[in-house]
Amino acid sequence: MKKITIAIDGFSSCGKSTMAKDLAKEIGYIYIDSGAMYRAITLYCIENSLFCEDGSVKTDELKQHIDNIHVSFCLNPNTSKPETYLNGVNVESKIRSMEVSSKVSLVAALGFVREALVKLQQEMGKNKGIVMDGRDIGTVVFPDAELKIFVTASAEIRAQRRYDELTAKGQKVSYEDILRNVEERDRIDQTREVSPLKKADDAITLDNSNMSIEEQKTWLKNEFLKAANV
Ligand code: DC
Repeated sequence: MKKITIAIDGFSSCGKSTMAKDLAKEIGYIYIDSGAMYRAITLYCIENSLFCEDGSVKTDELKQHIDNIHVSFCLNPNTSKPETYLNGVNVESKIRSMEVSSKVSLVAALGFVREALVKLQQEMGKNKGIVMDGRDIGTVVFPDAELKIFVTASAEIRAQRRYDELTAKGQKVSYEDILRNVEERDRIDQTREVSPLKKADDAITLDNSNMSIEEQKTWLKNEFLKAANV
């Protein structure tokens, strides 16, 4: 069976990475979480004082650093899951912090950051056999991908899933706050000037509002089999 490129885009907290990761593992493809790359650059900015007091990015300074920021992935042999490295250091857990989450959309909106990461993502996918998830994978990174999926679910359902996930970890959170955060992130992702989140014309939409993880897995595997056999 020929190797193809699979692009999975969609809104935040809609379960893209879970389905992308599961599929990649099952079919022996590389999985790349492109959001983790934007998060790693954001962590670099935090650790190197590249945010101003007012929360904006010190853009000129970051431009000077950008060629020296190396983001890569390495499979954790114990969990068989890829983990993110920043200049050789494992930052998988640090990039998921609230501080990084609250600052990453500013960094992801910078044209020169996107240019550098898109180049790296294209390099990672040059031999195909890759599943990449993000916001602009089917539109900008791999416009020729053989399979493009655009995942969506209602903001209320995504907020409920996030609420369940956080309360299961013992965190005290309010559903209303999470819903507001989900809606705000949707707004920023869809309205930013550079590479806003939008469905590629040839992407297949998956509204997983009323689907279980198992049902999504089966659906995606079927789409993969159709796309890989043409
Ligand atoms: O998927 P995530 O929440 O980990 O993404 C983190 C941030 O990076 C989020 O603000 C959207 C942005 N992002 C992006 O702009 N382009 C991508 N291809 C992936 C993520």
